[in-house]
Amino acid sequence: MALERTLSIIKPDAVAKNVIGEIYTRFEKAGLKVVASKMKQLSKQEAEGFYAVHRERPFFSALVEFMISGPVMVQVLEGDNAVLKNRDLMGATNPKDAAPGTIRADFADSIDANAVHGSDSLENAAIEVAYFFPATDVYAR
Ligand code: PPS
Repeated sequence: MALERTLSIIKPDAVAKNVIGEIYTRFEKAGLKVVASKMKQLSKQEAEGFYAVHRERPFFSALVEFMISGPVMVQVLEGDNAVLKNRDLMGATNPKDAAPGTIRADFADSIDANAVHGSDSLENAAIEVAYFFPATDVYAR
């Protein structure tokens, strides 16, 4: 198995619901270690830059406005197959399609406010981790 790192964001809706700890518990029970973490109020520029790949999508403006509507919790998760493992824990983008017991099934209200982000590939994980954390702020454990 491959030891990987992936970027996770607990979005403003889940932070407002006070379920940061419950989500962290799911990471830990699945064998993922939090190796970097910070709470952050994203600026519009930071959110637009992070989601730049979706700039042409019809939901882009709404996504950016949602992501700056309150603080987010940003973390790097490390573990065997961390990218896919985190995506499995998250569930489908639309909570209506998310499998029972996944984070989005349990905590997300809609496709617009869907509780968590997780990198979708190892390549994007490296880019996204570097977007938020200098290498010196990620701790090997
Ligand atoms: S796609 O179609 O596969 O590119 O979509 P996906 O990567 O799953 O989602 C892109 C991000 O946009 C957020 N978002 C929406 N997606 C689809 N439709 C609507 N209406 C929408 N609103 C917001 C979605 O949650 C993804 O964000 P992240 O943070 O990556 O989960």
